[in-house]
Amino acid sequence: MSRYPDLVQPAQQVLRANDAGGFTKPGPHQYPHQWNWDSALIALGLSHFDLPRGLAEIRALLSGQWRNGMIPHLVYHRESNHYFPDPGFWQIEENPDAPPVATSGITQPPLLATVVRRIHERTPIPAFVAEVYRPLLAWHRWLHTARDADGTGLACLIHPWESGTGDSPRWLAALANITPTHVPTYQRRDTRHVAAAERPFDDDYDRFIYLIDIFRKQRYNPGALLAHSPFLVQDVLFNSILYRADEDLRSLALELGEGTDEIDSWLEQMRRNFNARFWDEEAGLYFDYDMRAGRPIRVNTAATFLPLYAGLADTYQARRLVEEHLENPDEYAPDDEVRYRLTTTSKREPTWDGRRYWRGPVWIILNWLVAEGLRRYGYDTLAAALTRDSLALIAQSGFREYYDPRDGTGLGSIRFSWSAALALEFLMAS
Ligand code: GLC
Repeated sequence: MSRYPDLVQPAQQVLRANDAGGFTKPGPHQYPHQWNWDSALIALGLSHFDLPRGLAEIRALLSGQWRNGMIPHLVYHRESNHYFPDPGFWQIEENPDAPPVATSGITQPPLLATVVRRIHERTPIPAFVAEVYRPLLAWHRWLHTARDADGTGLACLIHPWESGTGDSPRWLAALANITPTHVPTYQRRDTRHVAAAERPFDDDYDRFIYLIDIFRKQRYNPGALLAHSPFLVQDVLFNSILYRADEDLRSLALELGEGTDEIDSWLEQMRRNFNARFWDEEAGLYFDYDMRAGRPIRVNTAATFLPLYAGLADTYQARRLVEEHLENPDEYAPDDEVRYRLTTTSKREPTWDGRRYWRGPVWIILNWLVAEGLRRYGYDTLAAALTRDSLALIAQSGFREYYDPRDGTGLGSIRFSWSAALALEFLMAS
């Protein structure tokens, strides 16, 4: 991608500028704390020019780990009135496993083990691997046990935010089945910095807050959350990332001379259950599963391509995903109107919206994950197209949070950290 060498310096500057002293903010205004999967990618980006700072990023995230193993989706290292919900709303101190630092009470996609392995393969960091291995193992164990609601080893999610794709149309039906009986009074702060048309609707937001209110009333007791959360889903994207991270954790275990039986059993269980649960032969798509309704969520979003990243699709499934969907101009391929890959939701979905958050815009993280997957299956030209479009969007509109796939308009937060981190990954990874 030598066409864009000029992006390297500005990308580094974005990560430096969002450095809040010990942790990196996802964006300068709207996101003043440390987010879980953002931080993993930020560490990967930092590793290209300041490895010690990249490792410090990971240590800061791990400082928020709960004693039961959960690494929360958000760590509040300092106060800010720019973000709601704040620590006072979560009230995690009601749970005996909560850490001393303020955090949220839910998790996010587990990219961290994958990032640690990748950094280590490029520049060996054996002491650091030894330091973080047990915390990572504890997190994965928590995901495969405290979040295993049906004995399949597939992790389930209790809040749309855990999916990293909060307002994705994947969650609309499950959210619509929830009737918030009492929503605590609250003030949204996310629409202060970004136009409301680019953010989730108020009704969805009410449900996001209502769910947290239920969790805090249950004092974040894992069994009670599975029993009482009205939102309970198994997510294709999350479980794909988990499977790949389990493989990467296994590789770290082998290097350290640790046993791998437990990890092997997770991997085996996932291989046994993943396709049975998520693959829809008729549609040729992977669908998330709503455990409360007891049925697949038949909504076509880019999450369907994540089993390529995990290596969990066979070559027949991969071919169908690519030929019938990714290359189909009615769904994901560019057409007269949509110029850039990869729209986060199929254009055929009635909820498609090119400007609103996870309902259509291009996100650099998804382009990166799907490009990685395509390369695994030999679709190198398509993978290169995703990388090319990502860099073209950044060159045109800056390191934005997301982009309108029609004309490349930059949306959401400006100077967004993981867009910068992944630009470095695209440009500098060998
Ligand atoms: C939004 C995104 C989530 C991300 C967070 C911080 O909530 O949906 O994936 O981690 O912002 O960037």
